[in-house]
Amino acid sequence: MRLLKGLFAILLTLVFVALVAAGVVWFRAEQIIGARVQLPAIAFSADGGDPARGAHIAGSISGCTNCHGQNLAGGPLIVAPAMAILYASNLTKGSGGVGERYSDVDYERAIRHGIRPDGSKLMIMPATAYQFMSDQDLRDVIAFVRGSPPIANATELRRIGPVGHVLIALGALPFAADKVDHTASHPAAQAPAVDVAYGRYLAHIAACFDCHGPNLAGGHYAGPHDVPAAANITPGAIGSWTLDDFKLTIKTGRDPSGHVLDSFMPWRSLALMSDDEFNALYAFLRSVPPVSPQK
Ligand code: HEC
Ligand code: HEC
Repeated sequence: MRLLKGLFAILLTLVFVALVAAGVVWFRAEQIIGARVQLPAIAFSADGGDPARGAHIAGSISGCTNCHGQNLAGGPLIVAPAMAILYASNLTKGSGGVGERYSDVDYERAIRHGIRPDGSKLMIMPATAYQFMSDQDLRDVIAFVRGSPPIANATELRRIGPVGHVLIALGALPFAADKVDHTASHPAAQAPAVDVAYGRYLAHIAACFDCHGPNLAGGHYAGPHDVPAAANITPGAIGSWTLDDFKLTIKTGRDPSGHVLDSFMPWRSLALMSDDEFNALYAFLRSVPPVSPQK
């Protein structure tokens, strides 16, 4: 009897400790999720944007349409209740979309800083990549978004489940807004050219670094755990690839060794890049320090 009572007391204590721990984790995660980011005052005008160039950036290089849809009406991106329920926002002027109320500055803040007009932090949206976008390219993207036909679609629901809370509390699911340098200045324009500098620019706004890592040596930097690690794309690994090998890999989703690329690698949208863009990107990839593949 006494033994049973003792066990029961231990069990109660364990349950109590577990509940307190869960409470602390939940509270910490909510603090991180709910924190508002105060930005320095931003002046930005989207006047003079070219919607056709914006469509190319959004549909190919920066892959906005991969998440927000070809029609930009958004939709479910993650539906895993334990983890999160997350929709890519409806960017059109239809009901449920942000198009009607977003100002030029609101777009700038969301795209280059990862922050909503109320200061809250956007999830998954790769502002870490778009922080490098030039003013002119951003204007073009905004012109394209504004010109898209209005579509009604409710995408506001965002729920973060228990696993999501634990990951956020542990810092394993960082928000782009917490990684972007909000005080950095942006280039006014980045003139297209077939050279290393423009290739580097493309690699930035195409989020190559977000997935392939800061030195492009590959690893598991983004996405769910069941997608393969991003490949090493330094000359240490793909140094023997010709320009045609590189182009063909991205255009067909199959590399020179016959490996079929997982669809998490956005090759279908990158495949729409122009020849000059492929050349510039290839020149840049050749120029980065080689990292040997891990044995
Ligand atoms: C990897 C997926 C992904 C890509 C690529 C992406 N977005 Fe998003 N975007 C999201 C998600 C998800 C949200 C909503 C985040 C949330 O609810 O926390 C969002 C939110 C936004 C918002 C804020 C709307 C609101 O609800 O207040 C804007 C504006 C936006 N995205 C524009 C763009 C543009 C323009 C591009 C390309 C330059 C782009 N996005 C690329 C996933 C993406
Ligand atoms: C959303 C994440 C993501 C982005 C953004 C991304 N990649 Fe990838 N990439 C991957 C993953 C994951 C793989 C590995 C796919 C596999 O093994 O099936 C990969 C594979 C590749 C490969 C094939 C390598 C090989 O040896 O077969 C190349 C080349 C490549 N990426 C280049 C790029 C370039 C260049 C960019 C930017 C323009 C880029 N990727 C952007 C995730 C990404």
